[in-house]
Amino acid sequence: MQLKVAPSVLSADFLHLEKDIMMLNSCADWIHLDVMDGTFVPNISFGFSVIDAVAPIAKIPTDVHLMVVHPERWFERLAQTGVKYVSFHLEAAGRKTAEFIDRIHSLGMKAGVAIDPDVPVRKLFKYIGKADFFLVMSVFAGFGGQKFIYESIDRVMELKAEITRRGAQALIEVDGGVGESNAGALREAGVDVVVAGSSVFKAESPESVIRVLQNV
Ligand code: DX5
Ligand code: ZN
Repeated sequence: MQLKVAPSVLSADFLHLEKDIMMLNSCADWIHLDVMDGTFVPNISFGFSVIDAVAPIAKIPTDVHLMVVHPERWFERLAQTGVKYVSFHLEAAGRKTAEFIDRIHSLGMKAGVAIDPDVPVRKLFKYIGKADFFLVMSVFAGFGGQKFIYESIDRVMELKAEITRRGAQALIEVDGGVGESNAGALREAGVDVVVAGSSVFKAESPESVIRVLQNV
């Protein structure tokens, strides 16, 4: 099974976004859109002005990563825009996590639960069989261009083992500092989808990096 690559628009060229989206349409698997509110994380990225522009021209699934407090406020609006995958943080949802997954499903989208590197992986276990995917952060959410935290590979293995043990179907997505040097180890650990921001967009040829990551 090839690794799916979800380039993060956070590192794209915002003055020429259409060009970058067209490039992703031609070779990537998902388009990752990072929404940050300056409260859940110490940074602000973009919101619907960008998502509404990208979603209609995306020919591959859009994957919105909500790094916000009260993620549920935006589910309906994302569904209307045609977003396919939505993830929110367990740290933001707490005991409402199961309810939020149901809400995303009722709107016809795939639901993902995300965790930062300091949240024990076992906290995701009760959503196995319910969530469509899990987003394991391999840097602390908030900024592109950070260094990959190597222990993330063990965290993926722990999650993968439990998904397999239960015979469940959930995908594992990893986000932060992913590039050619760690994608192979991630795939071997059981990752299905890698998010890649700077390693793709800062490269001379983003297309070739995407192809390399797909085929590690
Ligand atoms: C970080 C974001 C990531 C970020 C990844 O909070 O969730 O999606 O764009 O960027 P790189 O690949 O540069 O770490
Ligand atoms: Zn992200």
